[in-house]
Amino acid sequence: MGKSYYPHSEYEPISGSSYLRSLIVYYSKTGNARWVAQTLAAEIGADVEEVVEVKKQPSVFGVLRGISIRWQSHETEIAPIVRSPADYDLTIIGTPVWGGKPTPAIMAYLKKTDLSEKRVAVFFTQGNKKPQGIEETKALMPNCDYEGALSIVNPLEDKESSEKQIIEWCTKLTPK
Ligand SMILES: Cc1cc2nc3c(=O)[nH]c(=O)nc-3n(C[C@H](O)[C@H](O)[C@H](O)COP(=O)(O)O)c2cc1C
Repeated sequence: MGKSYYPHSEYEPISGSSYLRSLIVYYSKTGNARWVAQTLAAEIGADVEEVVEVKKQPSVFGVLRGISIRWQSHETEIAPIVRSPADYDLTIIGTPVWGGKPTPAIMAYLKKTDLSEKRVAVFFTQGNKKPQGIEETKALMPNCDYEGALSIVNPLEDKESSEKQIIEWCTKLTPK
């Protein structure tokens, strides 16, 4: 970890051996949440897990049924997960906001992941300025040790400003 992650930045990453062992779990469709996850990971020295939706090639009936199920419940299937929050001090969940909620892929991840008693923070990327999706996400992480949320508007449109928001947020995450 060193300045080389940010050749254009005046900031030094805050990570180091004295910091938490952290895992960032994110979903991204068009790259915004991926960029935030990677920037955060470089900043705090976290491991990263991308949640990937499983794309099936079902029959016509399956397609119609799938659309119907997704429309009613926003459910989706995700590829097997490699890393476990149980092995980390802090887990950061990252998702775009879709329809005021976390994405179906992250909802699917949270439904199958036990984060109770685990320290968890969340970041959102979104188009609107007003923070969205926070309560919906918290509801899927009952009994977690919630550290707070960061909502970033269109981070790829102004990476410099977004990087500052990310670094500022990192300083609020409780150290070891
Ligand atoms: C299906 C869909 C629904 C969205 N709904 C919202 C929304 O309710 N509120 C909002 O602020 N942005 C919304 N957006 C914008 C995305 O949250 C935003 O572009 C996000 O940064 C995309 O992240 P990504 O590039 O990692 O996929 C929506 C985008 C999509 C594709």
